Amino acid sequence: MNTRLLVMCFMAICGQDIMDDQCSYWQDDQCLLHANCSNRGFGFIPALRLPNVVYLDLSTNRIEKIESKSFSSLTNLLELNLSANIISLLEIDAFLGLEHLRILNIRKNFLVYNSISFPNSVFKPLKSLFHLDITSSSVYHSDQNFEEFSIDVISDLKTLESIVIDIISDRFGQSVFGIGFTSLTHLTKLTAGSCNIKFDNATFLNVPYLDWISLKNCTMKSYHGGTLKHRNFTFLSFEGIMHHSIADWQNVVYDFDDNLINTLVLTSSFLLNTFLPDHFYNTLGQTGITHLSLNKNDFIEPEELIFDDPIGYSKTLPLSLRDLDFSNNNLLNFNLIMPELEYLNLENNSLGYFLESEKYSATNTTVLKHINLSFNGIDKLNTSVFHGHPCLEKINLSNNFLTDIHFDISHLKTLKIMDLSNNRIQGFEKRTIEHLNKLFDESNLQFNLSNNIIKCTCDNIQFLQWMVERSVHFSQKNRIKCTYGNETTILLATFTKTLLQLEKECGSYTMLIILMSVALLTVCITVISGLAYRYRWTLRYIYYMTVSKYRRYKPQNTDHNFSYDAFISYADEDKSFIVKECIPILEVQGGMEICIHQRDFLPGEEITNNITNAIHESRKTICIITRSFLDSYYCMFEFNIARMESIYSRGGTNILLLVFYDQLRAQDLPLVMLELVQQDSYLEYPDDEQGNIVFWDKIKEAIAV
Ligand SMILES: *[C@@H]1O[C@H](CO)[C@@H](O)[C@H](O)[C@H]1NC(C)=O
Ligand SMILES: *[C@@H]1O[C@H](CO)[C@@H](O)[C@H](O)[C@H]1NC(C)=O
Ligand SMILES: *[C@@H]1O[C@H](CO)[C@@H](O)[C@H](O)[C@H]1NC(C)=O
Ligand SMILES: *[C@@H]1O[C@H](CO)[C@@H](O)[C@H](O)[C@H]1NC(C)=O
Ligand SMILES: *[C@@H]1O[C@H](CO)[C@@H](O)[C@H](O)[C@H]1NC(C)=O
Ligand SMILES: *[C@@H]1O[C@H](CO)[C@@H](O)[C@H](O)[C@H]1NC(C)=O
Ligand SMILES: *[C@@H]1O[C@H](CO)[C@@H](O)[C@H](O)[C@H]1NC(C)=O
Ligand SMILES: *[C@@H]1O[C@H](CO)[C@@H](O)[C@H](O)[C@H]1NC(C)=O
Ligand SMILES: *[C@@H]1O[C@H](CO)[C@@H](O)[C@H](O)[C@H]1NC(C)=O
Ligand SMILES: *[C@@H]1O[C@H](CO)[C@@H](O)[C@H](O)[C@H]1NC(C)=O
Ligand SMILES: *[C@@H]1O[C@H](CO)[C@@H](O)[C@H](O)[C@H]1NC(C)=O
Ligand SMILES: *[C@@H]1O[C@H](CO)[C@@H](O)[C@H](O)[C@H]1NC(C)=O
Repeated sequence: MNTRLLVMCFMAICGQDIMDDQCSYWQDDQCLLHANCSNRGFGFIPALRLPNVVYLDLSTNRIEKIESKSFSSLTNLLELNLSANIISLLEIDAFLGLEHLRILNIRKNFLVYNSISFPNSVFKPLKSLFHLDITSSSVYHSDQNFEEFSIDVISDLKTLESIVIDIISDRFGQSVFGIGFTSLTHLTKLTAGSCNIKFDNATFLNVPYLDWISLKNCTMKSYHGGTLKHRNFTFLSFEGIMHHSIADWQNVVYDFDDNLINTLVLTSSFLLNTFLPDHFYNTLGQTGITHLSLNKNDFIEPEELIFDDPIGYSKTLPLSLRDLDFSNNNLLNFNLIMPELEYLNLENNSLGYFLESEKYSATNTTVLKHINLSFNGIDKLNTSVFHGHPCLEKINLSNNFLTDIHFDISHLKTLKIMDLSNNRIQGFEKRTIEHLNKLFDESNLQFNLSNNIIKCTCDNIQFLQWMVERSVHFSQKNRIKCTYGNETTILLATFTKTLLQLEKECGSYTMLIILMSVALLTVCITVISGLAYRYRWTLRYIYYMTVSKYRRYKPQNTDHNFSYDAFISYADEDKSFIVKECIPILEVQGGMEICIHQRDFLPGEEITNNITNAIHESRKTICIITRSFLDSYYCMFEFNIARMESIYSRGGTNILLLVFYDQLRAQDLPLVMLELVQQDSYLEYPDDEQGNIVFWDKIKEAIAV
């Protein structure tokens, strides 16, 4: 027979023999059997199909009482959960056989701490019980006598180390911890269920070994100094405690002064007072405290000066303190001397404004490792806020309004995590990137920028490229958002792909910008050169006039005081005409001062300057127009400068006289020259004796005008 058949057979037999109990069974990795009979509507303890169960959960059923010997066959049971039933009584031998049971949970039933619910010695069989939870749903029962209850029921639990119990008084005003508790020499841990009591030095008298006490949600009707004196605590919690008088609450704090306390939880404990008692840190300083929770206290900074220092501004924390939780307090200021503090939680306060210009640490050099400043409305931090924190490993600035890292972290070589999630970072400035590069080279810093909306635009592409390059330093990259130029916001899930796409777009964008710039430049150059060409003579004239003005320091000629009567501009080819006719006739006969370049130009002076000066210092300029003249650069230069001189220095009077020495066709002449011809300021050289006399007379007349 194969094994499969065997198993099937076994199942069939078992299934038939024992009625289906509806519980579900599973084995943990140590092969211990768990039975889950929770929430199945049982009104009684079911007979289990598999008796070697180790963990049994019967919670949330309708069980009314535990009958005698209910569990006598479950001798392997280590843990039994009977919570959230409607049990109101346990029969005498209810737990018979459970001598290995370590954990018993009967919370949230209708048991009362008296002999009806708990018959004498009902716990006697529980020889190994370690943890017991008997907090009840019906605590305010008049028929309770804790002295009897402790002696007849509790005192059997010699191995008990941890108890969860309602801390109340019976009708004699006796604390729940009656004399019977003195037998529980291993009981060190107490968790309060319902809790409403006058605390005095008798409350905990019979439980001297407790060093772990959670009085969470207790109502302290009153507190007599001394209740918690002369005790050492590894853990003491007053979370959510209700107290009726400030004086009582101060007495609690004063009782700490000769205790050793490891962890003190004062979460939501100061609701009435909203400030710490005087000498709070001093008192704690003597306890060797390492963990202190002061969160959720609404230490409000009042406007008046009466309580202007709710948390002890600039006071010294206990030297032994390693971990301080000041979260959820609405604090506006925080500045303490923290010589040995390693973990500081300032989450969910209102320190944003304060930390713009101040520091939370009043110590020059701390050993702080973790600082949590999330939810503080920070948009800017004092540059030096983390100076003097050489051991920082984790900075949590999530859920603030930061846009960049302007505070200095360059010295934080041990920094491992910088949580900047849920801020307003669109990218880092170049300077930040440079600083971070240095830091990244020396450390394994992890940045969390999740839920920031990075700008995925071309002007931010360098930041994105840097992030990809340094991607090992960014965690949770797939939770970073990204907003495009067109305001579309996406998750940067496929980071590299998005970047590639963006690079492509920006590439063409850059190309477009380059092309447009080139086009614009071309247009500009064209326009400017067009204008320059159009006004080239004006420009040259102005240039030369300016040059000559500064070069020669000559006072400018007035209209009536020219050095020459005429400057004659001619091509070298026509020299003979000048030498043979012009000079004899005009100078010798006519007595005029004539300027010709061959004779009158200053040697050593630049030719262009000579020309401009000559024209400027002559009343008229006569151009001997020949084909050579038109072909000569300098002749045309002289012609144009003379034109300009007319316009700019002689108030529009024409100083040009054209003499056509050759026969030239109209189409051979430049346009400007034709204009002058049309204005009749020209003469033709007749080249016959009679005509020449008239010609020269006209010339002389024109020069003299
Ligand atoms: C036990 O069973 C109940 C009801 O089926 C279920 O809600 C619960 O999660 C189970 N508990 C465990 C520890 O599996
Ligand atoms: C007992 O059951 C309740 C309700 O299901 C559950 O909350 C609790 O954790 C259980 N306790 C133990 C010790 O198993
Ligand atoms: C308890 O306190 C009262 C005064 O409040 C005192 O008289 C009494 O001696 C104290 N008992 C013990 C055991 O310290
Ligand atoms: C403490 O009290 C609060 C509100 O009064 C309640 O919601 C919470 O369940 C209680 N915690 C415990 C452990 O009793
Ligand atoms: C508390 O601990 C200190 C140091 O270990 C010890 O000297 C002192 O006796 C302890 N106090 C109590 C009440 O146990
Ligand atoms: C911050 O603290 C306030 C109370 O001071 C609380 O109402 C709020 O839920 C807290 N916010 C976070 C995110 O913890
Ligand atoms: C930063 O804090 C220090 C110390 O409190 C202070 O001296 C400095 O002026 C602050 N810097 C700025 C920019 O406010
Ligand atoms: C911090 O440093 C300043 C100057 O460096 C010094 O005057 C001051 O006493 C120091 N404070 C502490 C608490 O060490
Ligand atoms: C805030 O920082 C403190 C100190 O490191 C840490 O204990 C706490 O868990 C942090 N809060 C959150 C929500 O991570
Ligand atoms: C920082 O604080 C936020 C919000 O309180 C929390 O969700 C986050 O886990 C913390 N980050 C780290 C690295 O502890
Ligand atoms: C940011 O990332 C770190 C891991 O580097 C993680 O511990 C932290 O919880 C993250 N913060 C949030 C708000 O997810
Ligand atoms: C915005 O731009 C991105 C990338 O260029 C593109 O994928 C997206 O479709 C655009 N959205 C709209 C609404 O135009």
